[in-house]
Amino acid sequence: MSRRVALVTGGTGGIGTAICRELTGRGCLVVANYLPELESQAKAWQQEQLADGIEVEIAPGDVSSFEGARAMIEDVEKRIGPVDILVNCAGITRDKTLRKMSEEQWREVMSTNLDSVFNVTRHVIEGMLERGFGRVINISSVNGQKGQFGQCNYASAKAGIHGFTMSLAQEAATKGVTVNSVSPGYVATAMTLAMPDEVREAIVAQVPMRRMGTPEEIAHVVGFLSSSKADYITGANIPVNGGLYMS
Ligand code: CAA
Repeated sequence: MSRRVALVTGGTGGIGTAICRELTGRGCLVVANYLPELESQAKAWQQEQLADGIEVEIAPGDVSSFEGARAMIEDVEKRIGPVDILVNCAGITRDKTLRKMSEEQWREVMSTNLDSVFNVTRHVIEGMLERGFGRVINISSVNGQKGQFGQCNYASAKAGIHGFTMSLAQEAATKGVTVNSVSPGYVATAMTLAMPDEVREAIVAQVPMRRMGTPEEIAHVVGFLSSSKADYITGANIPVNGGLYMS
């Protein structure tokens, strides 16, 4: 069988990088999507992976735009091949209490974190259904399950991902395509490092395991969901949060 093509949006970010490395280790031909204006950083990132013996393709594209996502998928399919595994991992924060949140901060988060899931998946789903195989894995968040002070925008987008996941899972279930989400808790990446130290420390103190997660702990679960061992799992959400939220 030829190598599966795996596309990871936001693939050069903290969790995205670990996912790219996990899927490469599982024999996939991995493509990391990045924002076009971050071209030089993405190329440097690609070289860093190569220095560790990990070959990853890169693909520019603004996934918050339907047209940007369409052009990115066309480029990936032409250069590399049809996408078998899609990991929707692109995400940003614009934390503010609602009374201070601007419309722009709401829209930026909704378009990058939720619209992107539609924008990219819409352009790969038909091919997956026609070929009778596909894996869509959406990176949501513990805060999409429990809410979070200062994150009306982020928590709404991440909660929306669950509705998308369960709906598409039903549409694709008879066609060999599974659709699942993974909900990380607080993971040690640039995103959580950007939080005020005292706020982060107070949250970590509430995590039953009393520590943040590692990007690899998220990536292992994504790797499992992408594998044939997870054939009967669809429409599921897998929390990886050190016990921060139990349901
Ligand atoms: N619950 C209740 N009250 C809280 C609170 C909380 N969790 N956090 C802060 N407050 C209180 C403060 O004590 C303060 O009270 P006083 O006014 O009485 O002194 C007040 O709320 C501050 O409110 P402001 O509107 O002035 O807020 P701010 O501008 O000072 O900061 C914030 C608000 C930027 C949202 C800050 O609280 C913050 O960074 N919170 C963390 C948000 C967070 O968890 N982000 C996660 C980022 S990582 C990620 O998103 C990945 C993932 O998936 C987990």
